[in-house]
Amino acid sequence: MEFPLTRHLLKAEIHCHIEGAAPPALAARQAEKYGVDTSDILREGAYVWSDFSEFLVCYDRVASLFRTDEDYALLTESYLTELAGENTIYSEIIVSPDHGDRIGLGADAYIAGISEGIRRAREKTGIEARIIVTGERHFGPESVIAAAKYAARGKNPLVTGFNMAGEERMGRVSDYAPAFDIAREAGLGLTIHAGEVCGPFSVADALDLVRPARIGHGVRAVEDPELVARLRDLGTVLEVCPGSNIALGVYPDFGSHPLRRLKQAGVRVCLNSDDPPFFHTSLAREYQIALETMGLSEQEIDGMTRTALEAAFVDEEPRGRLL
Ligand code: HPA
Ligand code: ZN
Repeated sequence: MEFPLTRHLLKAEIHCHIEGAAPPALAARQAEKYGVDTSDILREGAYVWSDFSEFLVCYDRVASLFRTDEDYALLTESYLTELAGENTIYSEIIVSPDHGDRIGLGADAYIAGISEGIRRAREKTGIEARIIVTGERHFGPESVIAAAKYAARGKNPLVTGFNMAGEERMGRVSDYAPAFDIAREAGLGLTIHAGEVCGPFSVADALDLVRPARIGHGVRAVEDPELVARLRDLGTVLEVCPGSNIALGVYPDFGSHPLRRLKQAGVRVCLNSDDPPFFHTSLAREYQIALETMGLSEQEIDGMTRTALEAAFVDEEPRGRLL
């Protein structure tokens, strides 16, 4: 897909899940390689799911098709190379050691493969990337705490942040707060998926109990004006993924999506692709939709790219160079 209107704009994203970046054609090749029947999740070159729960099941199934460090290196390299081709200079990749463990690869080899993909893409295109280790909420508090402990060991300098994704309706943030305490103590940047499928209470819980610099999605905070003011005053950055929200039915269309309202209320927001081929999108498409359909100017879009780079969990070098 080409999006010429925003071709010239520099882009950055800080919220894309690695397995969520796997194109269906690549997943199909992986399934063939490992002799896995994927007829229930892959049809006519597209992923098959109908709601958030089914999406998460489909995501975990696709993850299980990547089984070696080289599989992950190729996936990461191809995702970043395509992004760089859309004039993207930075990406933060959300990765879950549980997915490495679940296919018997192990967390170290999983992260090593992703790091190798980052290295290859950087060498070819100059794109910078960092890794956000994430716990999957639907795998339960113990596994999220284990992911935080893993990230806190600090073995890989590309791992700069900690996140929690997955089924937002499972448990309360308080069940998972100890994981974030471990990650904070280790000096990792903190972000958490909240206010995507659950309402403002989920964002308020995240602010109270996790104190993150950023929130994944967070868009449903718009339902509570006091919470919007709190986000604005704290300077919390919302990693907004409009195409994801529309595909998952959080909002019926781009016209009713709250990105512009949040921005106008003074909340710091940026654009992200989340799981691009699952949601028939790309970062360039998100930029184009913001410009064409959501009423944002080029200047405002440049401002969101700047916000992403300011909020990135990255050292002053390369931040200074990228900004
Ligand atoms: N929300 C929660 N978990 C996820 C998502 C998402 O949008 N994408 C991949 N895991
Ligand atoms: Zn996400």
